[in-house]
Amino acid sequence: MKLFSATLLTITLTASAFLCQAQTVPLQKQAEFKPGERWYDDKGELINAHGGGLLYDNKTYYWFGEKRGQSASEGVTVYSSKDLYNWKNEGLALPKSTDPQSEIAVGGLIERPKVVFNPKTKKYIMWFHLELPGQGYKAARAGVAISDKVTGPYRYVNSFRPNGHMSRDMTLFVDEDGSAYHIYSARENYDLRLVKLSDDYLSATTQDTLLFSNHREAPSIFKKDNYYYLITSGCTGWDPNQASLHTATSLFGPWKLVGDPMKGPLADKTFDGQSTYILPVQGKKDAFIFMADKWNPKDLKDSRYLWLPVKFENNQPVIEWTNEWDLTIWKPQKAN
Ligand code: DGJ
Repeated sequence: MKLFSATLLTITLTASAFLCQAQTVPLQKQAEFKPGERWYDDKGELINAHGGGLLYDNKTYYWFGEKRGQSASEGVTVYSSKDLYNWKNEGLALPKSTDPQSEIAVGGLIERPKVVFNPKTKKYIMWFHLELPGQGYKAARAGVAISDKVTGPYRYVNSFRPNGHMSRDMTLFVDEDGSAYHIYSARENYDLRLVKLSDDYLSATTQDTLLFSNHREAPSIFKKDNYYYLITSGCTGWDPNQASLHTATSLFGPWKLVGDPMKGPLADKTFDGQSTYILPVQGKKDAFIFMADKWNPKDLKDSRYLWLPVKFENNQPVIEWTNEWDLTIWKPQKAN
């Protein structure tokens, strides 16, 4: 009987190991977004780019995000796409270091990576939320990496607390005049702050301001008609909560609380997601995609992506759930 159960166990383990490996799916060209479903790359593997952000460069979209194991943080991945539906896996843009002394060694966390291009230095600059190995979320630092090529590999530069402030969830924003900003949760996430970056985008200047103290994280931002729109989440770990929208005519404030821009069922839980980025769609006027993560804390790599169109009602952004949609909801921008 013992021998029988041992044999059965071996067969079960072998079969489940096989099933675990065989996670790829046959390739199917996508022509729409299906928020919350499993999204696959050009190799038929699950897209693993969480807490991500996008960069449009040389007529191509690049999607940078956290590579996650079941819970481990495994560096920053990058995917490319011409149409936003079909994504090619371009590999690890920023791998974890094998040097145990490194600040980005295995065991620490790299979260919410965002990449911008610096036209003056012609370098690609990545900022992210860095936690040091073995310290949980205590370090609360901003990390910076640099590359000559958009897909990397990026070279880790350093990490710091901007002007001494804790820095956890974050995003980057480049304004029309080329000035770049780091927007970040500080003071144990009670404060949301903004700091202007140096001209080379590699460090924080002392132009650092408190936006508001509403205990918010997951900042995502866009600009339309000289107004800035900032969507954040509450602070409940991996659990979803209610989003809020603030607007301002200057990045340094004052920021006005508008309320929850989500609409429809589960709106008060951001449709079970958490904001990460808002993408201006190329070639379309006033077209923005709200991007959120539907976290799966039991298996972070299988967290899902919620990409939804931003609509405007009475000139205010509204984000409504839809099971499927595509970019034809926006008319192409007229050439001047
Ligand atoms: C919420 C943050 O927004 C995520 O990026 C991550 O840090 C989780 N907290 C961890 O609980």
